[in-house]
Amino acid sequence: MQTDTLEQIKDKIDIVELVRQYVPNLKRAGKLYKACCPFHHEKTPSFTCSSEKGLYYCFGCQEGGNIFNFLMKIENLSFREALEKLADMAGVELEPAKLLSADEQRRVNTRKVLDFARAYYHKNLLSRAGTQARTYVKSRNLTQETCEHFELGLSFDTGALQKAAQEAGFTLENLKDAGLCVQTERGLREYFRNRLIFPIWNPRGETVGFGGRILGQGEPKYLNSPETILFNKSHVLYGLNFAGPAMRKADRAVLLEGYMDVIGCHQAGITYSVAPLGTSFGEDHARLLKRYTQNIIVLFDPDEAGLKAALRAALILTEQGLFVKVATLPDGLDPDEYIARDGKESFEKILDNAQELIAFALQRQLEKHPAPLSPQAKTNIVTELTQIIAKQPDSIVRREWVKYVAETLNIDEPLVQQRLAQTFKAATQSPRFSAAPQHTVVRADQASTSVSAEEDLLSWILKSPQHTVLCSQLSEQDFSSPTLWELFQAIVKTHMQYPQADNLTEQTAQALPQQKNEIVKLALLPTPDDFDPARDIAACAAKLEKTGLQRQLQRLTQQMKTYGTGNVPPDVFQTYMQLQQKLKKYRS
Ligand code: GTP
Ligand code: MN
Repeated sequence: MQTDTLEQIKDKIDIVELVRQYVPNLKRAGKLYKACCPFHHEKTPSFTCSSEKGLYYCFGCQEGGNIFNFLMKIENLSFREALEKLADMAGVELEPAKLLSADEQRRVNTRKVLDFARAYYHKNLLSRAGTQARTYVKSRNLTQETCEHFELGLSFDTGALQKAAQEAGFTLENLKDAGLCVQTERGLREYFRNRLIFPIWNPRGETVGFGGRILGQGEPKYLNSPETILFNKSHVLYGLNFAGPAMRKADRAVLLEGYMDVIGCHQAGITYSVAPLGTSFGEDHARLLKRYTQNIIVLFDPDEAGLKAALRAALILTEQGLFVKVATLPDGLDPDEYIARDGKESFEKILDNAQELIAFALQRQLEKHPAPLSPQAKTNIVTELTQIIAKQPDSIVRREWVKYVAETLNIDEPLVQQRLAQTFKAATQSPRFSAAPQHTVVRADQASTSVSAEEDLLSWILKSPQHTVLCSQLSEQDFSSPTLWELFQAIVKTHMQYPQADNLTEQTAQALPQQKNEIVKLALLPTPDDFDPARDIAACAAKLEKTGLQRQLQRLTQQMKTYGTGNVPPDVFQTYMQLQQKLKKYRS
């Protein structure tokens, strides 16, 4: 029912008409329509839209999709909200409640109770009973406006949330599902008691959980909501709902350590800043940032723990193909303290002068080893640094880093190169690697069997579904393996159902349970070192199209031979000519 309805809606709404409501100067350019992208700042149009395909794509921010994706993004809506709006426009009836599975119903309820709690906590902070907490907030230099913007709140110690929520029609089950109450030996307790509350939003601006800071001194200083059906710490960055557009515009992001740092920066107008919730910055966070910008400045507290965590985060970001710089603040100050003391301009100057990761790492090493460096110190430092260089997926940058280290330490470059090669070798011999399936990744532009190119393509769109649109020209003939063609269709369909998902492995596996293993295998295929999703997916799709054409042509030539010269039926010959014509575009 879902998919049929989606198809019906897509048939009825012309994407060009929809987009034009938000982008009035959309202009025709051949088969496509073009304009400056509404999602990022640009001077020449790289946003394209195809009526025929029902898709849009921006070559600048490399994102695209169908009418659902477009509306979700431009109006910051959830999929369901966009669906409802578009169904309304198209005059297609939705069957609401029946559509929801038990899980979906839990999601909806959890979202509702979280919204209720956010408003409730916020009201507390503004109430008479919130006087002391408001004094604390003021003592941290936060303005009234900032409190409103981040919807800061206050939790009491009295079980008052539970009571208010129940009065508003929520059940204890709802409160538990949302992580607002927990079962203890002494009965049900509210999770946040006597804390300053920071609502946590996902990038679409939906509240998914809370952080709570103790008012003043005490342990633990911060609490985060427990994991729930909506809340997964490794998928959320605090501040991202506000920071997204600013990151695109500034084409950089600042990664900070905590809640207060983010709020302080945003208050000062550095709105492209975010923080993980606690210390657990991970790959998923890096991928999340990658959607907005390639350039990340890591700015953690200037103590030893902070510097260590900064290096760790910087390495994760580097491995994901982002360009990382590390900034440090003087005098042991946190960002909010520094801005309060020296102002926004001075802070921005520190961001502008952030060090390249390799320079930061080398400086840390030099601080650990007294000058002049002994030969042993040099060899230790090079060993440490090649571990970092090995994580750099870009071969040109890697080369530059080797040069930089060799020059700074006054060592012959080939020696550093050699140590790097040893690091690589050690890494590939580690159990983690040798246990992995021996699948060699093939570049789209290298000769390879068609099946592995087909597998690569599927593996890549599973992992970067937002680029699925780049394969929209592919058809059954382009796949040599019927199974893989079937899987390809399943992934495309899943992408339409979950346009916001940034990995489709699970959902596709759910849709095609009998193919689960194949899907998991594809998801686990390694990507090339310098993987660039848009470029590689487009190139691979083109390659499949080309080999598909060649395959058809070969088959047809065989068939034509059986007719004998001069006896080939005209329609067969015409198909032959058409295929030749199509192949031409690959022969330049
Ligand atoms: P202030 O100390 O109020 O300035 O907040 P901060 O955000 O600067 O905190 P800090 O630099 O000490 O810690 C950075 C981040 O680590 C916080 O924002 C929290 O996300 C997390 N964190 C700090 N202490 C705790 C704790 O006791 N428990 C948990 N779960 N997280 C913590
Ligand atoms: Mn702080």
